Amino acid sequence: MLNAIKAAPNDAGSYPAIDPVSTSQSDYGTIIIVTPLWWSQMAAPMQTYLFNYGGQMAGKNIGLIVSSSSSDINGVVADCKRLVPDGKYFSENLWINHSSHSNRSSLIQTWLTAINYNTVTGISEVKTTTSAHTRIYDIAGRLVKQKPSKGIYIINGKKRVVE
Ligand SMILES: Cc1cc2nc3c(=O)[nH]c(=O)nc-3n(C[C@H](O)[C@H](O)[C@H](O)COP(=O)(O)O)c2cc1C
Repeated sequence: MLNAIKAAPNDAGSYPAIDPVSTSQSDYGTIIIVTPLWWSQMAAPMQTYLFNYGGQMAGKNIGLIVSSSSSDINGVVADCKRLVPDGKYFSENLWINHSSHSNRSSLIQTWLTAINYNTVTGISEVKTTTSAHTRIYDIAGRLVKQKPSKGIYIINGKKRVVE
């Protein structure tokens, strides 16, 4: 799969099939791509997704989070720039490897601060009005029962940054 992509990256037939995705890129100004590394390259199914939709991400803010066991992510960054050539990339990408895996939540928060995520996206304030109907989950999918501390949460189905 990955060898086929390398040999003919412009040929749609090189990419493994994935199910159709209904998300519309035009709904978003910022897209954070989160992908594992396979053999020092971007995982093949994510490459298919970006081959199909990367052109629609032109001019959007693009963040990249890559997980690997230990290999560095340079190859994945190169794949991403090939597949989303006209994205406005944040100043740094985030690499989560096996040894930093357990700190991923704080690494993501630090990274979002480092790339000025809030400034770039215009999210400056997040109101957490808690009513009987408010459901807050952390990024690991756990229900949060108290007032959330700083971080990223899914509040009533929408991703929010709590500062
Ligand atoms: C087909 C395949 C190839 C992989 N190749 C590499 C590799 O070359 N280097 C590396 O550090 N990790 C490699 N990995 C590990 C993945 O990057 C890792 O499983 C992924 O980041 C998810 O992390 P987790 O297994 O801890 O959930 C590979 C995984 C798969 C399935």
